[in-house]
Amino acid sequence: MPAKPTQFTLQTTDPENLSDAEAAAELASLAAEIARHDALYHGDDNPEVTDAEYDRLVARNRLLEAAFPALIRADSPSFRVGSPPSSAASTGHFGKARHARPMLSLNNGFSPDDITDFVTRVRKFLSLADDALAEFVAEPKIDGLSVSLRYEAGRLVQAATRGDGAVGEDVTANIERVDAIPKTLLGTVPDILEVRGELYMNRDDFLALNAQQQDQGGRVFANPRNAAAGSLRQKDATVTGDRNLQFFAYSMGETSAEIAATHWEFLTALRGFGFVVNDLSSKSPDVDGLLQSYDAIGRARASLPYDIDGVVYKIDRHDYQARLGQVARAPRWALAHKFPAEQAETTISAIDIQVGRTGALTPVARLQPISVGGVIVSNATLHNEDEIRRKDIRIGDKVVIQRAGDVIPQIVRVIAESRSGNETAFVFPDRCPICGNDATRPDGEAVRRCSGGLKCAAQLFEGLKHFVSRDAFDIEGLGARQIEQFITLGWITTPADIFALGSHRDAMAELDGYGAVSIAKLLAAIDSRRQIGMARFIYSLGIRQVGQATARLLALHYGQMDQMMLALNPQADLTAVHAELVEIDQIGAAMADDIISFFGNADLYQIVQQLRAVVTVLPPERPANDSPVSGKIMVFTGSLDKMSRAEAKAKAESLGAKVSGSVSAKTDFLVAGADAGSKARKAAELGITVLDEAAWLDLVSNAGTDSSG
Ligand code: IVH
Repeated sequence: MPAKPTQFTLQTTDPENLSDAEAAAELASLAAEIARHDALYHGDDNPEVTDAEYDRLVARNRLLEAAFPALIRADSPSFRVGSPPSSAASTGHFGKARHARPMLSLNNGFSPDDITDFVTRVRKFLSLADDALAEFVAEPKIDGLSVSLRYEAGRLVQAATRGDGAVGEDVTANIERVDAIPKTLLGTVPDILEVRGELYMNRDDFLALNAQQQDQGGRVFANPRNAAAGSLRQKDATVTGDRNLQFFAYSMGETSAEIAATHWEFLTALRGFGFVVNDLSSKSPDVDGLLQSYDAIGRARASLPYDIDGVVYKIDRHDYQARLGQVARAPRWALAHKFPAEQAETTISAIDIQVGRTGALTPVARLQPISVGGVIVSNATLHNEDEIRRKDIRIGDKVVIQRAGDVIPQIVRVIAESRSGNETAFVFPDRCPICGNDATRPDGEAVRRCSGGLKCAAQLFEGLKHFVSRDAFDIEGLGARQIEQFITLGWITTPADIFALGSHRDAMAELDGYGAVSIAKLLAAIDSRRQIGMARFIYSLGIRQVGQATARLLALHYGQMDQMMLALNPQADLTAVHAELVEIDQIGAAMADDIISFFGNADLYQIVQQLRAVVTVLPPERPANDSPVSGKIMVFTGSLDKMSRAEAKAKAESLGAKVSGSVSAKTDFLVAGADAGSKARKAAELGITVLDEAAWLDLVSNAGTDSSG
């Protein structure tokens, strides 16, 4: 939400003297005010109040909630933890820019073992012999924001932020003012060239900017990254130009011609085109070399003029990068090796319970605010009740906390020596603090869950927030605040109700903050989502354990939403459904359990059906439908020589095949490498076409795919 400065006065009336209506109104305005400060603090903008002032708001909120427990809101600040989504996409004054190639993020590693695993995984995927050389580039991970720059005929034509990876904000006008970014490229460049890299601010410039802002009564930024993001997203591009932003180029988007065969050569080419490329980058053939680079960059860290938060490893050869491809939003061929978390000591002032989308009760420690690595931390997750017991965490304890990057801060340990005896143990509730329904903990599970389902305001609220989020229905203008409001008004009790909001048009016009234009925009945004891809649809349902990748597997497997609903109907033979689900490559038994328990719940099934009555679910796009294996069910067994089984499976999927883990009568092809065992025998018995490696390679050699994902 745009942080609209409102006049807010902190009330001091004794709760005993408040009526229910007054208390409800004050809780509503506190929730809005605290959310606004959270957004200012965590988003790209900056805090408007001191920590002490913020704490007074939170304390007042808690006081009222204690006096009026029945009025605790679904969006109560007491249940929030961590950062709300950045307000970036909602500031409104930037157009959208669709990336010609997705802008990926990176998987993280933390220990030398993670790096060994990464290198092993990559080499195995590529099926490299032990003595085959595969080099990696190690480069500092710059703590800024990534920007994609599009050059046509050597001239900068568009600059965009990463956004959700597919669509970002068009910041061309602002980037044009940044001296560190070349507007025309030097030398011979491809007609189309997209260069990606990190926009950042030097620490000195950040401190000077903050000092100046303070003098002028402007906003002070929490760290150089926020300062860079805030400086880029200025309405007045000349302000951006004055902020001394810097840029390191490090990766490639769309290009009309090959520039280099390796990343290392690409970096050299970038320097030639006029970009600044980080000098600390180096090349190594093995894990030891990478770890040495990590140590060297770590030693240099403090003396660098800018912030870095780790080291990025990338396999050097571009053809290897293309073969490795990506999983979800991160390339298989790169890894971010993060620097260790920063730690600090503080005191736990309270423990609250937060209720999530799937009803999980998560304890959250409220901390005396403390600065950890330049960021003020006032909450830490406690995960679950066992964690509290295991670490013997009590209210009033002095603790060591740590945060790493954007991860929610954690409690490392209690400083037991500092105990005074006044600390109190926390009693974990067995009822949901929001709806009062039983909160039960099945045997063998760590998590206690509210049994209220969508009848629990917290679950409904969280479920709907997920439903409208970027990777799900992606409904612009329908954020947490609106959902909360519409739930309170009784307009939304299930996702399908979102598509009937038009019937509340007149009533909406009576609400504060809803002009004719914003209502029309909201309803248009909702209408534009009446057609949705099947994978997104499944993901948006918020089934436990079903992320985007699994949603896609399910969509590809069933092909049609009708088919899926039929197969998973509450009367279906559960054992057979379970067997079918685990047949899908990469779906395990626990995941199958969760999928079945979602659809097996008659209420939830009904909710999905209601939703299908108001939206059209489009069958998934097959990556390719003209390949010899598209739509075919394939099983891989034995070891292949030219590629690993993982690469072969990824290849088959990219060509539109469904990869299954075991042979059945439905299998179309079995690809059998060397030493194929029982699967090959079974396929022979069932009369299934068995391909050897040569036949497989022959089959796919002519079917090209777009490896950019
Ligand atoms: S490569 C496909 N290289 O880290 C490769 N990213 O956590 C995509 N970042 O979104 C990124 N320094 O904003 C790459 N040397 C570097 C980087 C780097 C910083 C950022 C980038 C990315 C984020 C992922």
